[in-house]
Amino acid sequence: MNILITGGAGYIGTHTCVELLEAGHEIIVVDNFSNSLPVALERVEKITAKSVLVYEADISDSQKMSAIFSAHVIDAVIHFAGFKAVGESVKEPLKYYANNVNGTLVLLAEMQRAGVKTLVFSSSATVYGLPETLPIKESFPTSATNPYGRTKLMIEEILSDFYLADDSWRIGILRYFNPVGAHKSGQIGESPNDIPNNLMPFISQIAVGKRDKLRVFGGDYPTPDGTGIRDYIHVIDLAKGHLSALNHLAETQQKGMGELLTVNLGTGQGYSVLEMIKAFEKASGKTIPFEIVARRSGDIAACYSDSSYAKQMMGWKPLYGLEDMCKDAWHWQKNNPNGYEK
Ligand code: NAD
Ligand code: UD1
Repeated sequence: MNILITGGAGYIGTHTCVELLEAGHEIIVVDNFSNSLPVALERVEKITAKSVLVYEADISDSQKMSAIFSAHVIDAVIHFAGFKAVGESVKEPLKYYANNVNGTLVLLAEMQRAGVKTLVFSSSATVYGLPETLPIKESFPTSATNPYGRTKLMIEEILSDFYLADDSWRIGILRYFNPVGAHKSGQIGESPNDIPNNLMPFISQIAVGKRDKLRVFGGDYPTPDGTGIRDYIHVIDLAKGHLSALNHLAETQQKGMGELLTVNLGTGQGYSVLEMIKAFEKASGKTIPFEIVARRSGDIAACYSDSSYAKQMMGWKPLYGLEDMCKDAWHWQKNNPNGYEK
């Protein structure tokens, strides 16, 4: 297949590019490098020994997007491009609505114009808001607690309306739980621009000596050790989930049908912050100093998926466990202490 990937230079995008190229697909990346660097795609080329066609463009630029769709025969789009920092979205909501929601509207309009009707979209477990029970199934009610989450929810609703209007489309909505880890080569991985907001990149930076101490947000949650529990998933498993979704949607197309499929991509296994610290210490041989501080506003006690629907619908299941997640995150961080920066 010839697949257009928006945001393909980012953390999940690069890993997905590798998996797609290794599966024999052709890819075209559109990225404005607002949160990434071109060198990440050079690393993808190095790992796969294949070349990647890259357009530096904003997905909200309909002229550029139209030219890209005119210049290529595209079978499907994987749509990663968007901003993802929850705290920033609270401070600058318009930036998030403009980039995430408007960007998606432009992309959909250009896909429609070009007759490209297969789309895989990056959603998030954040759309479950405060789940009443665990594990989380796709059928659970959705809500948002911040503008970032609301953009994901809005886009899901837009896609649902879009499908209702033309049910010959094939749309896969993938709700990611907590992506961590890196490619086995240690060549690509998560490279935050600033102080990391998320747990795993913060721990990795402590291990490599860039930060002193982890602040564990909350030691009084109703969990076995009092710290927050999340469903961490290896980014390679996540990347493979996109291939499974594309293959599944291609089968739907072969049957002459359309589909709107929403699935969780998680492992179904939750780990606490303290368990993550211990696992990372074991994988890296480094000590991770920490102190328990107040809860972070907007956090929930526990969040983990029921991932059986992805297996049932697309034959996908995660292959990697916590040890690989920590080992691979550490391999990347150790080789690239400053991420992609020189
Ligand atoms: P990332 O920031 O590393 O990658 C996003 C990429 O999109 C970047 O390369 C950025 O430059 C590009 N981009 C942003 N806006 C763009 C625009 N208007 N036009 C063109 N390119 C643009 O993020 P990621 O972690 O790889 O996440 C990818 C997607 O998955 C995002 O939509 C994110 O919201 C979603 N998601 C991520 C997580 C996570 O924890 N990483 C969890 C759930 C969902
Ligand atoms: C965060 C976002 C969520 C987003 C997800 C993936 C918030 C409130 N939520 O989720 O919307 O979909 O990232 O990008 O930002 N922790 C610490 N110390 C730290 C960092 C984290 O103790 O310095 C704890 C958190 O309290 C949480 C766990 O580690 O219990 C995981 O945190 P994080 O990696 O930020 O992910 P989420 O909170 O699940």
